[in-house]
Amino acid sequence: MTTNDNSLPTRNGIINLPNLGFNLDLLKKKAPNNEIIFMVKSNAYGHGELPIVKFANLEKGINFFGFASLREANFARKRLPFLEAEFIVFSDLFMVQKNMDWSLYAENRIIPVVHNISQLESLLNFNENNNASIPLYLMFNTGMNRLGFDTEEKDLGQILKLFNQRGITKIHHLMSHFGYSYSVKERNTSVTNQYTIFGKIKKFFQSHAVKINHTSMANSGAIEQGVALEETHIRPGLILYGPSSMLQKEARSSWNSKMVSTISCKILSKRTVKKGERCSYGLSQLPEDGILLVINLGYADGVPLSISNHPFELNGERGQFFGRVNMDMTFLFFPQVEDVNFCQEGDVINLWDENPESFYRFIGKDIHPYAVLCSMQMPRLQLEYLT
Ligand SMILES: Cc1ncc(COP(=O)(O)O)c(C=O)c1O
Repeated sequence: MTTNDNSLPTRNGIINLPNLGFNLDLLKKKAPNNEIIFMVKSNAYGHGELPIVKFANLEKGINFFGFASLREANFARKRLPFLEAEFIVFSDLFMVQKNMDWSLYAENRIIPVVHNISQLESLLNFNENNNASIPLYLMFNTGMNRLGFDTEEKDLGQILKLFNQRGITKIHHLMSHFGYSYSVKERNTSVTNQYTIFGKIKKFFQSHAVKINHTSMANSGAIEQGVALEETHIRPGLILYGPSSMLQKEARSSWNSKMVSTISCKILSKRTVKKGERCSYGLSQLPEDGILLVINLGYADGVPLSISNHPFELNGERGQFFGRVNMDMTFLFFPQVEDVNFCQEGDVINLWDENPESFYRFIGKDIHPYAVLCSMQMPRLQLEYLT
């Protein structure tokens, strides 16, 4: 696990684009009939939106990308103007402002996901008054109560009324989002309930002669559980970056992917310590004799505070994260080491490697994989891209 390569920068992450290609191929086998909307919110879950989008589009033919904000999508559109891909914005604050200027979307070929009546009305007015054709992507709330049109007859009736007033007979993309698809236990309860409601919404529009071109509901958990693959599109995020999104405490994942990222650090200090000595802020007491390492990543680099006590293996020696995480440093404690020379100051340590198991070991059962990937990112970490 360690090397003494001084050419590496002090902090680094490797983003392995061929591994993303591997995961995309895996996904295409699992969901051969679905188009993919690759979710690249939050700087592609920390991996860097530009190289990820460019690779996925040019090398793997992915044509749809999901961003959180107009700003993120616009950033990618401006820097990758040659891409033909559709950029979709899911949750921009701009859309809750009073006087929405949809020209920012129209001019940059960016599609907003509309989630309430006033947005829909405003967008339809814009299309009509400007001879524009921003496609209608509508998000419905089927139980998560996050964003989306409500599904009672009244709200559906209001949408129909707006459509009838303007002679609209087509929804380009109808979607909803699962709240708990990452749990096996929810497969036959909330997941099925939400999906049933989604089916009813589709039927409602179809029975009123409104054509629906595309539909999607499946995020990573649903895809892993084989749910909502009947829809034209799927919207994976996490699984494409490597980790399974299924609750690790419930079941082992069968998603045999590769981690796209590898995060490394260096050993800043190694000292021999005795039982009862203390370390870090809060002066945690060491329970045994052992070796104490300080590595050069801390909470400012995205190391979760709750990593403390998680096991960590280094070159065959079993240890654990210990004491409070510092801003730019973290402690590792190895009691009862067999070989005291198992590592040296300056050695590089991979927090995880391309095997997702190493990532699951790092985060344990209680840390959120999304939060770790999204927080351990640039500009604090130097990311190097393997192509
Ligand atoms: C609307 C929507 N669809 C899909 C996803 C992808 O979710 P996951 O990373 O669990 O696949 C997200 C995640 O943010 C989302 O908000």
